[in-house]
Amino acid sequence: DEEKDLQVRPPVVTIMGHVDHGKTTLLDAIRNTKVTAGEAGGITQHIGAYQITNNGKQITFLDTPGHAAFTTMRARGAQVTDITILVVAADDGVMPQTVEAINHAKAAEVPIIVAVNKMDKESANPDRVMQELTEHGLVSEAWGGDTIFVNVSAIKGDGIDDLLEMINLVSEVEELKANPNRTAVGTVIEAQLDKGRGSVATLLVQTGTLNVGDPIVVGHTYGRVRAMVNDLGRRVKSVGPSTPVEITGLNDVPQAGDQFMVFADEKKARQVGESRFKKQQDAQRKESSKLNLD
Ligand code: GTP
Ligand code: NA
Ligand code: MG
Repeated sequence: DEEKDLQVRPPVVTIMGHVDHGKTTLLDAIRNTKVTAGEAGGITQHIGAYQITNNGKQITFLDTPGHAAFTTMRARGAQVTDITILVVAADDGVMPQTVEAINHAKAAEVPIIVAVNKMDKESANPDRVMQELTEHGLVSEAWGGDTIFVNVSAIKGDGIDDLLEMINLVSEVEELKANPNRTAVGTVIEAQLDKGRGSVATLLVQTGTLNVGDPIVVGHTYGRVRAMVNDLGRRVKSVGPSTPVEITGLNDVPQAGDQFMVFADEKKARQVGESRFKKQQDAQRKESSKLNLD
């Protein structure tokens, strides 16, 4: 793409951190939902990919580790995440998965914003969190470093506006751009087989615009986009960069972390798709005959 084709796109923000430090509750607070309480009907089919609008600016959020295959995405170094929100519970401090999250973000060269959560608790100790994170190279601006720390209480909704403001700030610095006027390319967030609808894949469009009817190759699968449903459960006809969307119409179930690509020419899509599909089937056959021999 040429510079003139590029337009500002929403940041893709991944929420990471140790188990039970409040990632999903924080997203609930941001989205005004109750996913954690299981009250939002139909949420499971929208997985952990959501888009919100804050002060006229869109932000795409990915919750972890609800996505069974999120590790695959990280392992492949997929460039889906622009900013990491590292959630650390103020009463628990830095824990093993906190450190793991830091390492993933560093490896992918993704900026980290620290959200010190559960500030409402009596045992909250944000200074200890700052101290502990210093040992992992995250030094708060308050202590002369360059890492943004925001104190929040996901349960009370405290500090959420500050956090969103910081996300907007960091994404402006990152100058995130994509070309919406080209065929779509992106990554599979999650996929499964649905009894009624067949193969259902949640895709994150990273560049271009994805349309119903587009000939598409997704990992080893292919087809035409039959229908698209956005994170609010609404049918949509086309979606642009940084947008999560659920699609149907693929001949098989792709894997989380797989790349997808739209072809202008359906014949070409089928050619590439069929050859990839066949390769995968052959590999699978080999694998199962090997298992039978053992
Ligand atoms: P996993 O997805 O399992 O890793 O957990 P999580 O990080 O998404 O944490 P979750 O949102 O499920 O919250 C875990 C527990 O912490 C729940 O009981 C929440 O109600 C509680 N919790 C989350 N945020 C806060 C907070 O700000 N204050 C208090 N007091 N409790 C919180
Ligand atoms: Na939890
Ligand atoms: Mg969670």
